Amino acid sequence: MTTSPSPTLYPDAEGIAQAAALLRAGQLVAFPTETVYGLGADACNGEAVAAIYAAKGRPSFNPLIVHLPSVQAAQRYVVWTDDADRLAQAFWPGPLTLVLPLREGHGLSSLVTAGLSTLALRVPEKASAQALLEAFGAPVAAPSANPSGKISPTTARHVLDGLGNKIAAVLDDGPCSVGVESTIVGLDGAPALLRAGGLPLEALEAALGAPLALKTTPDGSTDITAPGQLQSHYAPKAPLRMNADAPRPGEVFLGFGPMACDETLSESGDLHEAAARLFDLLHKLDARGQPIAVAPVPTHGLGRAINDRLARAAAPRPNDPGPT
Ligand code: TXA
Ligand code: MG
Repeated sequence: MTTSPSPTLYPDAEGIAQAAALLRAGQLVAFPTETVYGLGADACNGEAVAAIYAAKGRPSFNPLIVHLPSVQAAQRYVVWTDDADRLAQAFWPGPLTLVLPLREGHGLSSLVTAGLSTLALRVPEKASAQALLEAFGAPVAAPSANPSGKISPTTARHVLDGLGNKIAAVLDDGPCSVGVESTIVGLDGAPALLRAGGLPLEALEAALGAPLALKTTPDGSTDITAPGQLQSHYAPKAPLRMNADAPRPGEVFLGFGPMACDETLSESGDLHEAAARLFDLLHKLDARGQPIAVAPVPTHGLGRAINDRLARAAAPRPNDPGPT
């Protein structure tokens, strides 16, 4: 992670090329969209995506939006539907994010989706965002470029004030014209509004020719009914036990640091590597159908989010009938 003050790049040919090169090198680059500034990383590079969570200080792994330059580029990663087509034709590029089922062989880091089987996709309109995505030529994962719990940035100055010493560069293209985050529509079932945002509901309903189910929080806030916040969000089929010093008979053991184990989050005890590997390893161990024991993971830095996710995976299941 960068610790010196990060340089400001401008959206001329040289600035765009430098920003794309930094993304290719696995670095974090904040970039403008018409909604808010995003904190971008190569979506196929697990450690780069882990660095997003570390920079934001996110206490849990909330899934990220993947940004692409065109509808065609976006379609490669998801199972496309007629409703997706209607909305994409009407509103992409623009302040709309679509959530669709992930397609096989997508190649994205599982940390992008926090282990979910759906993916949030967006094609931003701002010319400098388009130029960067074209130059990079691969999917860019980006949450809003603010520290966790702070408001979203709409200027490069906001980004530098919040994350200046944690990013490789910010691409400064002035203030964002929309200024609130994108509207998020879930299309992995009946179309549903997951987050109110820069594109009005009425426009969406007109394009779909049908009302949208509202899944925003009951208090009407624009917070998403975040899948990352649900206890059942990622529950392995088998029971999971945290802070285990050693496996009990019949358990598979997921290690951290140098120790004997079936799989390791990070043999060297690197929390970035552990975050990048977490969801893949949980899926892999779960496929064995045995209870999973997980070694203690430190609670500082990215360890907080890792422990949060493990605790959700270890929580009793909502449909668990319990002892009978
Ligand atoms: O305008 C925006 O959307 C900005 C710019 C940078 O594109 N991005 C943004 O990202 O607001 P972020 O991470 O701050 O908010 C993304 C929201 C989160 O609440 C997350 O839960 C939700 O999108 N999300 C991501 N993937 C999802 C999925 N597969 N299913 C449901 N919600 C998802
Ligand atoms: Mg945000």
